[in-house]
Amino acid sequence: MMQDRRTLDRSAIEHHYDLSNEFYQLFLDPLMVYTCAYYRDPEGSLEEAQADKLDLVCRKLRLHPGETFLDIGCGWGSLAIWAAKHYGVCARGVTLSSQQVAYANEWIARERLQDVCRVEHRDYRDLVGEGPFDKVSAIGIIEHVGTANYPAFFSEVHGLLKPGGLFLNHGITRHRHWKRTPQWDFLIENVFPNGELTHVSHITEAMEEQRFEILDVESLRAHYARTCMHWALRLKARERDAIALVGERKYRTWLLYLHSSSVNFEQNSINLHQVLVASADPKAAVVPTTREEIYHPFEGTPLRRAS
Ligand SMILES: C[S@@+](CC[C@H](N)C(=O)[O-])C[C@H]1O[C@@H](n2cnc3c(N)ncnc32)[C@H](O)[C@@H]1O
Repeated sequence: MMQDRRTLDRSAIEHHYDLSNEFYQLFLDPLMVYTCAYYRDPEGSLEEAQADKLDLVCRKLRLHPGETFLDIGCGWGSLAIWAAKHYGVCARGVTLSSQQVAYANEWIARERLQDVCRVEHRDYRDLVGEGPFDKVSAIGIIEHVGTANYPAFFSEVHGLLKPGGLFLNHGITRHRHWKRTPQWDFLIENVFPNGELTHVSHITEAMEEQRFEILDVESLRAHYARTCMHWALRLKARERDAIALVGERKYRTWLLYLHSSSVNFEQNSINLHQVLVASADPKAAVVPTTREEIYHPFEGTPLRRAS
C-alpha cells in the first residue's frame, strides 16, 4: 500500500512538474517560485511579491546565520537559495522532480553557494532520522501529501526538528463547507493526480496531535487569487511558445487551471494558510511575543539581511 502511494506520488510529480523547466519559466517569476506570492503593495508586481514572500517565510522562521534549515518540497530551489544567500543559513531542499533538482543545483553553483546549500532528489519519507534541523519549511507540498498521511508527515517533521525548533507549513486549504465539483474532478484527473485539500482546522489539529505548539496562522487568500491571475496572464502572453513546448491541450488545461484557481480563491471556496508551529519545548523561549520583527524591517530599513 505504502509502495502504491509512493508510485502514485512519483508519477503525479512527473506529470505536473517535469513538463519542462522551460514551460514553467514562461509564466513564473525569475526566482521560479511556484506558490502564493505576498503582495505588500496590493497592486504590486509578481516579481516583487515573490521576493517579499521568500522574506516573509524567512522572517517568520526567524532564520539566523549558522542555523540549519530544511525546505521539504523545495521546487526549483528558490527558498533554500534565498535563505542561504540572504540569511546565512546552511540550507537543504528536497523535491521529487528531477528537472527541478538539475535546475536548482546549477543555480546554486552559479551563486557559488555549494558549501551552504544543496537540493536533492528525495522523497520526504526518506528523511526520517536525519537532522535535527533548527528550522523546517514545507511550502506547497501538503496538497500532495494526502490527508490519511498527515499523522506520519507531521510526526516525521517533528522528528527532524531540534527541541524548540520552528516549522512553517504553507498550503492550500478548502472552505469547511466546500463541495466536490466536476471542475475539481477535471483538475485532479488532468493537473494534480495526487492532489487533496482539507480545511485549516484539520491541519492544525493534525499538527497538535504531534505535540506541535501552534504559534501563528495567517490567511493569504487574496494574495493567491492575484498570484494565479498573474500566472494566467503571463502564460496567455506566451501562448505560442507554450504550445510549442507542451502542445495545445496541456497549454489550454494549464490556462484553465490557473484562471479557475484565481476565481476559486477570490470566491473563498479555497484559501491559503501559513501555519507556524514550534516543536514544543517549555524551556526554550523560541520566538518573540509579538509579530513586530516580522513586519517592521519591511519599513524603510534594508529589506533583506546581508548574510
Ligand atoms: C507546488 S510545488 C512548490 C515548490 C516550492 N516550495 C515553491 O514554493 O516554489 C510542490 C513541491 O513539492 C514536491 N513534492 C511533492 N511530493 C513530494 C514528496 N513526496 N517528496 C518530496 N517532494 C515532494 C514537488 O516535487 C514540488 O517541488
